[in-house]
Amino acid sequence: MNLKKTYKFAVVTALLLTFFLALSMSVFLFFTNDFNFKLIGFSSLFCFVISFVIVQIRIERYIYKKIEKIYNDVIFLESEPGPVKSTPISTDLEFLSKELSQYTKLKKNELESFKAREEFRKEFVGNVAHELKTPLFTVQSYISTLLDGAMSDKDILEKYLKRADKGVDRLIYIVQDLDTITKIEFGDAKLEKSNFDIIELIKTIFEQLEMKAKKEKITLTFDELTPTSVFVNADMKRIQQVLTNLIVNSIKYGQANGTTELSVESLNPDKVLVRVTDNGEGIEQEHIPRLFERFYRVDKSGARSEGGSGLGLAIVKHILEAHNETIHIESKYGIGSEFSFTLQKQQ
Ligand SMILES: Nc1ncnc2c1ncn2[C@@H]1O[C@H](COP(=O)(O)OP(=O)(O)OP(=O)(O)O)[C@@H](O)[C@H]1O
Ligand SMILES: [Mg+2]
Repeated sequence: MNLKKTYKFAVVTALLLTFFLALSMSVFLFFTNDFNFKLIGFSSLFCFVISFVIVQIRIERYIYKKIEKIYNDVIFLESEPGPVKSTPISTDLEFLSKELSQYTKLKKNELESFKAREEFRKEFVGNVAHELKTPLFTVQSYISTLLDGAMSDKDILEKYLKRADKGVDRLIYIVQDLDTITKIEFGDAKLEKSNFDIIELIKTIFEQLEMKAKKEKITLTFDELTPTSVFVNADMKRIQQVLTNLIVNSIKYGQANGTTELSVESLNPDKVLVRVTDNGEGIEQEHIPRLFERFYRVDKSGARSEGGSGLGLAIVKHILEAHNETIHIESKYGIGSEFSFTLQKQQ
């Protein structure tokens, strides 16, 4: 253990002792008429050395030991294993109290972040349970109605089984979303970056969503100024998810005969800007700040609102944050919305 010794205390104490010893000796010798400078000088020096040594040893034995114990306790409490405290131990009490108060502050912050995480966990679990309950009860009620006798009617049997199947699809969809979001949030998901053509990727997504868009009478198109290919450096699978979530939203919350327009443009030498614009129902200003929260949905009961768990945009935000990029939204209620984000150009 590295001990930074402070001699100041011992020196001052020894000096004080020496001074009073010399003083009392002088007075004594003065009255016995034996006053002797040499004797006083030597005994003072002797007294100083002896008291310094004794005081210093006592400090080391007693106070250093105590302080060392405090340090060891503190080190023991420190959560991160690793090299034992690199700052040397000191008897400088001011330094020690500074260290301790710094340490308490650190622990307090840690504790607060634990509390916040715990709060978040509780809320998250509550929300998950709530989201799963509805489809689960739906499935259960169809199945038990069938078991209670309805299955003898072949038409009803098929109809209810189909509905139960839809409910199960919905459950799977929610669980997959939850899986994605927990992986991203807890840092399990590592980005697998590569260079790829984002225009190509958007075309693939358009093909995948063609049926869905047709059903809602929405046209998926590119902005006319979009180049034929733009290479970016990112995790392709995750960016595909970002684009899919945004485009699916534009279809879900679009108006019949509406359009979803994708544009990709160069923003600066490093970045491209991707925009997803629709002329759908739009979002009221008051909802915008909370839109990217998990489970946040604008209108849970609206006629057009299809089943959704409100995780889509939270996933989008997390993926883009993992890329060190941000997402921006502009929306006018009744007019339409535009979601835009940046991506790194191919290096
Ligand atoms: N393009 C859009 N136009 C209008 N409203 C939108 C649009 N995109 C999102 N919203 C609103 O934002 C809310 C949150 O969207 P988000 O994608 O996170 O959840 P969701 O679509 O409801 O569910 P999920 O995506 O998990 O199936 C939606 O409920 C919707 O009200
Ligand atoms: Mg969505």
